[in-house]
Amino acid sequence: MSSEPEVSSWKYSSFLKNENSNFSKSDILNILTKQDIDEAYKTISKWDNYSPTQLIFLNKLSKKLNLNKIFYKDESKRFHLKSFKALGGAYAVEKITKGNKDIVVSTATAGNHGRSVAWGSKKLGLKCKIFISEYVSEFRAKVMKSFGADIVRVRGNYDNSLKECIKQSKQNNWQIVQDVAWQDYKLVPKLTMAGYAVMMKEISEQLNSQQISHVILQAGVGGMAAAMVAGIARYLDNVPKIIVVEPESAACVLESIKVNKIKKIIIKEESLMGGMSCDEVSLVPWEILKNSVSHCVTISDNYIAKTVKSLANSEFSNEKIIGGECSTPGVSSLIALCNESDAKKELSLNENSNVLLFGCEGDADEELYQKLLNS
Ligand SMILES: Cc1ncc(COP(=O)(O)O)c(C=O)c1O
Repeated sequence: MSSEPEVSSWKYSSFLKNENSNFSKSDILNILTKQDIDEAYKTISKWDNYSPTQLIFLNKLSKKLNLNKIFYKDESKRFHLKSFKALGGAYAVEKITKGNKDIVVSTATAGNHGRSVAWGSKKLGLKCKIFISEYVSEFRAKVMKSFGADIVRVRGNYDNSLKECIKQSKQNNWQIVQDVAWQDYKLVPKLTMAGYAVMMKEISEQLNSQQISHVILQAGVGGMAAAMVAGIARYLDNVPKIIVVEPESAACVLESIKVNKIKKIIIKEESLMGGMSCDEVSLVPWEILKNSVSHCVTISDNYIAKTVKSLANSEFSNEKIIGGECSTPGVSSLIALCNESDAKKELSLNENSNVLLFGCEGDADEELYQKLLNS
């Protein structure tokens, strides 16, 4: 049994108010439309073994922080792929290949997106090529291989793996199924986002008429955060304060919000939160996030292991929760924001607040998870 961590000393690294925040439901649903979102739910909810993931109360943590409720969307059991990414890549594969069995699918990934694309390709009997950087663990590579994908390891970081994926895909006429958008490549990333929005449909039903006042959204390239914003516009009656959290070493959304345009950052050290270690916000998500995010916060890797352990040892909830590295920053940044009276006041975080957090992944990298748990 571990001793409970003293969370009152936890601090965020930076906190920024978005001066251009102006949530517009119609603008958001012009980018990711109601039809896009509804079609994804209609399709995914018919997949074998589909069932909504749990919305868990972090009742012990809300008491500690003096908030009304904290809801935690636990994606650790999503289609046994162990992250919300199961909803995006596999859905995009299905939509873009439209039953054509001769298409070879390709993608670059930090791990979870590739797992989804490989799984989706396998379900449809399609060949699949996955490009990974030197930072993607061998464990994650093995899981993708187990779904029948060919794995191509590329020297350098995620960007290098994406460049190589694009190069080889052009040469070989493979269909890229990427979760990142660029000029002239927006349809597939939109499909992945529409898939992620299934989470908000489930949440809107699980909330059972309770309103959330705040939501903290993890961002890598911003796809999941923007999809949740679109889900809020589609499914919720009220607009909560929308806060984006990123690793302190990869704050590409915060830096872009600061200057009101997409800013590519330089990552000096890769975060352990590999899925969120991204240097540039993706185009489609940016169009949604730039005016809908109310605040950005960043957090250091120091709280990853502590949060993983507290979730696992039922210190934040009555339930034992398997939360991997990318599941932790929602929880740790909320703690840090509540520890800082100015931030707490700025966000109106108080005893009436109902906060929604995302447990984006479970032990998707089992080896890293065990290391964090036993550290
Ligand atoms: C496992 C995982 N991968 C990736 C991401 C980043 O998603 P996106 O790149 O769409 O912002 C997250 C977000 O928290 C995550 O939990």
